[in-house]
Amino acid sequence: MELVLVLHSLLRWAIVFFGLWTVINGFTGVTGKRLYSKSDNLSNLLFMIFCDIQLALGLTLYFSNAWFDKLKSGMGNVMKNSYDRFFTVEHALLMIIAWILVHAGRSAVKRAAPEKKHKKMLVFFGIALLLILAAVPWPFRTEIAKPLFRWFN
Ligand code: HEM
Repeated sequence: MELVLVLHSLLRWAIVFFGLWTVINGFTGVTGKRLYSKSDNLSNLLFMIFCDIQLALGLTLYFSNAWFDKLKSGMGNVMKNSYDRFFTVEHALLMIIAWILVHAGRSAVKRAAPEKKHKKMLVFFGIALLLILAAVPWPFRTEIAKPLFRWFN
């Protein structure tokens, strides 16, 4: 499981990078009234692919690292402890909502008329990125803090 945890921790940076690139593309597309380009498509495709991999790694951690067992042993106890509540409920739920938005965004952008694609990109991927940033256990979040870079012990 250590390998999965290290990968899950490191992949957050790919997600932040491709998420920001996608949102910046959406923003400059709306303000500059550009045509939807290959770079726009590539940025949100890579954002989606890394979110897919992260979901698979996250679910592996969730079911193998006793988080799901904690949930089964009683919701009341989990909700009383902020560390357990964060990883068992808040982190997992917000990240799954973000993942759904990323997929919904990809198909909304595909279906949209050319002049509306950047706006869809900005809204769907912008909200998804905000949720992701809010649900990461950054080191400054004292009760749930995890390192910025995790490596093998
Ligand atoms: C964009 C999506 C996600 C990002 C950016 C993300 C990021 C992170 C980060 C940075 C950590 C701390 C790793 C460390 O200890 O160094 C973490 C832990 C964790 N994540 Fe995620 N995560 C995402 C999605 C998910 C999903 C969808 C699930 C499960 C449904 C999940 C389950 C977990 C669990 C259970 C832990 C705690 C691992 C442990 O210490 O046992 N994550 N996540």
